[in-house]
Amino acid sequence: MKRTASDLDADETRVPSKRLKTEFGPRPVSNEPVEIEREGSPAPQVEDTGKPSPKSELAYPPKSLSSGRSGPLVTFQQPSPLTTFSYDSKRELRFDDSALRYYVDPPHGADLRYGYERWVKRPEEKGRLDGLLKAWLRVRDGFPEGFMNGGVIAWRGVMTRILTAPYEEREGWHLNVMCVNGTLYLEEHVSDAKLLEKEDLTPHHRLQSYYGYSFESFCTAGTPHAKPGWGGDVDTNVQWCSVVRTKLGNTRLVIGGEVDCVRGKLTKTNDTLVELKTSLTIRNQLDESRFEKKLLKFYFQSFLLGVPEIVVGFRSPAGKLGTIQSFQTMQIPRMVRGKPGSWDPSICLGWGERFLAFVKEAVQGDVRSAAAKEEEAPVVWRVDFKPRVGVSIIQLGPEAVEEVQAGSDRYGFLPRWYWEEQLHNQV
Ligand code: A3P
Ligand code: MG
Repeated sequence: MKRTASDLDADETRVPSKRLKTEFGPRPVSNEPVEIEREGSPAPQVEDTGKPSPKSELAYPPKSLSSGRSGPLVTFQQPSPLTTFSYDSKRELRFDDSALRYYVDPPHGADLRYGYERWVKRPEEKGRLDGLLKAWLRVRDGFPEGFMNGGVIAWRGVMTRILTAPYEEREGWHLNVMCVNGTLYLEEHVSDAKLLEKEDLTPHHRLQSYYGYSFESFCTAGTPHAKPGWGGDVDTNVQWCSVVRTKLGNTRLVIGGEVDCVRGKLTKTNDTLVELKTSLTIRNQLDESRFEKKLLKFYFQSFLLGVPEIVVGFRSPAGKLGTIQSFQTMQIPRMVRGKPGSWDPSICLGWGERFLAFVKEAVQGDVRSAAAKEEEAPVVWRVDFKPRVGVSIIQLGPEAVEEVQAGSDRYGFLPRWYWEEQLHNQV
């Protein structure tokens, strides 16, 4: 039987405040990445200021954490494809493979600046789950009722951020979280200010970003076995996405994300999917270790969707394409193991499991006031990650929920049509 949102609060202590704050962070030293540990009192604390500031700061785990590991490892189930879909140039979602691209070797020495002036750039937008939810509704009937009870639905980018957090030293992030009928929904929180900042790239950054897309165009064609060359002007509205189901520890995940192309043909498995990446040519030891650090993100981005191959185009700072190297996703951790500044994926999976357990525990103790419950006001949580510190979570007040909804027809961040469908399916 599905647990409803009200089932989830039934056995929880009611706290007469709209705000709840609790916090956890990576342990400074540990040999057991799966164990859950909480800093301070396990009871959620009530906070009146409503500021999403962490209660205290926790030391980030030293890199030596990965050595001498023992104890049970967190398992990650091989992702199974559920469906695919395409966004067209008008950003309309179609449940077909019209945006699927086929891999071709790029021309040697290609100029990645080619076509820059004609780039149709997708406007920056909030990280809405709408497309993924549409996809999930189409396939959900094939699963037993309550299949995603205790599970998580999120875009692949969000899961990559979560899993790579133990090694993230610079960039913090923020998530909005809702729990509906026992399922957790995670979206990246992008404030209006952040949206403007993302749109306002310096000319240098904009060009660097274009090199990656231009590489995709040089490496792909609309048909298999096409001749190498320019694959068409870049329109970043157009995307082909794969939705998979998998499991991290005991938590089921439904994840969607863009896949750059297939090698040969699309099959019912993920076996032919290819991720394309660019990186600066490696000239010395320092470059090499920088690249190996980047491989952490390359690895998880592909691993989460079960993409088995990553093709990297090495380029000059001015965008001239040099060598191409293909990596087997599953071999990457072995390549970096034991190197200076290396990373260990089991640390990330262990952290990921602890993170999800922490978020579940916080949100399932929904402490809305009785009045808010009667009004059926949406309950939205904010998770903040600070590099080298850890993670904190608060329940958002009405104003912050309004900011999340951003004037569109939503219940919290979920599209109204999805929310109504969920109400209908409550048991
Ligand atoms: P590279 O990562 O190959 O340089 P993805 O590989 O994740 O599908 O992304 C495709 C390209 O989008 C990237 O290619 C990069 O050029 C650009 N891109 C991705 N994330 C970005 C970001 N946060 N800021 C700027 N550009 C980004
Ligand atoms: Mg790519």
